[in-house]
Amino acid sequence: MMEATEVKKAPYVIEWRDGFKIGVSQVDQEHRHLFTLVRALNLNSVDQTVEELLDYVVTHFSNEQELMEKSGYPAFEQHLRLHEEFAAQVADFLGNGEAWTEDRIQELRRFLNKWLIGHIMTHDLRFGKWHASHATAHPPAHAPVLQTTIASRGFFARLFGVR
Ligand SMILES: [Fe+2]
Repeated sequence: MMEATEVKKAPYVIEWRDGFKIGVSQVDQEHRHLFTLVRALNLNSVDQTVEELLDYVVTHFSNEQELMEKSGYPAFEQHLRLHEEFAAQVADFLGNGEAWTEDRIQELRRFLNKWLIGHIMTHDLRFGKWHASHATAHPPAHAPVLQTTIASRGFFARLFGVR
């Protein structure tokens, strides 16, 4: 059981802002929700909040990848690998067996916020720009096979231990 008397530091919080938008509304909404879930991480309900966040990361990555794959985004495979690398980093962090403390929550929040912003403003934004000029103007004639998305869902589920 955690003591409620632990010294409280100001939490490391980065709020979502419109400047993070990539112009694909579903992706933007999901990114926004990710920031909310990162902010909600807390020691008192750490297991629940971490699980909720990871579940949503899996959902979001799957949705984003499906959107990329369906629209024929040329850098899809490369982007998928970035998501996988991220999942591996998070799995390493969570798997090191350390007990949760305010500092460890803070460290996780900092890592997640930094990664999200770096990733969104570089790689997701690249997709957003491509999407604006290609996907809506030239929708694919047929939906590609979604095996990669399904396989990646399994990959994340394994790494994160999501049921
Ligand atoms: Fe992404």
